[in-house]
Amino acid sequence: MQKVHHVSVSHIEEQFSTIQKVVRARQAGRMTHHTILVLGGTGKTARRLVPLLAAGGARPRTAARSGGDATFDWYDDRGHDAALEGVDAVYLVPPAGRLDHPPKVAAFLDRAERAGVRHVTMLSAYGVDLAPDDAALRAVELDLAARTGLTHSIVRPSWFMQNFTESFFAPSIAQDGVIVAPTGDGTEAFVSTADIAAVVAATLLDPAAHAGAAHDIAGPEALTLGQVAGVVSRHAGKEVSHVDLDRDVWVAQAQSAELPADYAEVLAGLFDLIRAGHGSRPGATVEEVTGRAPESFEAFAAREGAAWRAGAA
Ligand SMILES: NC(=O)c1ccc[n+]([C@@H]2O[C@H](COP(=O)([O-])OP(=O)(O)OC[C@H]3O[C@@H](n4cnc5c(N)ncnc54)[C@H](OP(=O)(O)O)[C@@H]3O)[C@@H](O)[C@H]2O)c1
Repeated sequence: MQKVHHVSVSHIEEQFSTIQKVVRARQAGRMTHHTILVLGGTGKTARRLVPLLAAGGARPRTAARSGGDATFDWYDDRGHDAALEGVDAVYLVPPAGRLDHPPKVAAFLDRAERAGVRHVTMLSAYGVDLAPDDAALRAVELDLAARTGLTHSIVRPSWFMQNFTESFFAPSIAQDGVIVAPTGDGTEAFVSTADIAAVVAATLLDPAAHAGAAHDIAGPEALTLGQVAGVVSRHAGKEVSHVDLDRDVWVAQAQSAELPADYAEVLAGLFDLIRAGHGSRPGATVEEVTGRAPESFEAFAAREGAAWRAGAA
């Protein structure tokens, strides 16, 4: 009897504590960002973010040039007002591969403020805080930080692990068994986009707790491309090696593969940093924000490396 009474009281206490938490969260302005516009909505972070937002009780609305809930092109603003209708918060993914986007993003943020958006979380990149003010991603960061009509969070991830399965390193792994990058023995703390999505979700589901925050996000270990190739080899079931191409040859090849000249130079600059020993370093952000450690390249490869075995990479 005593035990039943105890369980019952603790159950009531538990319920009361939950209600108190909800009241406190409401008072702190949390849980009010119900509809969340997810730009880059078909991309490597957004696809993993959407289920987390839905599980957290929000209504995510994906946007991209094709395949999203809303049709959205940074370089054609006709769909922008419709995409923003009824939106409380935005996940801002600047377009990769171009450096001319800051004025487009500024005009979009003006619209967002007019439409009543109250919080924006921006996907930037590791080290952008050290870039010149007029560098594209840094210019967007500064624009966002200067706005008073909405709060913001910035996430700055290192290179994505998924570049090896879903993006620019994948074709050469599949075709030639090589990872081509002028990085020498320099290391990078590659991070899984699943971990990036988890941090982004935390900022969008509880903006009050992350207002003004800038989160550097890196994986748990700094690896050379040679070490990455070793892990990929085991999971791909074939030999994959790192080709440390001359930097200028890499730029010329990237440009002839139709990468814009200025963007190829930016990527080469990032490779230079890795080569010189200034690549990203493991950090504590993922664990601090999500309560769990970031996944290792080995764990990522075990889960997503089927792409290499299927030859689909
Ligand atoms: N990859 C990395 O290692 C890395 C590391 C740090 C930071 N970042 C940053 O992450 C961002 C995403 O890069 P990502 O290459 O990895 O791409 P991604 O997120 O995998 O995919 C890009 C997304 O943006 C959409 N998109 C592309 N061009 C667009 C346009 N003109 N208008 C509207 N939507 C557009 C794409 O869909 P549609 O093509 O259908 O429009 C897609 O949904 C970039 O800003 C990049 O600087 C990347």
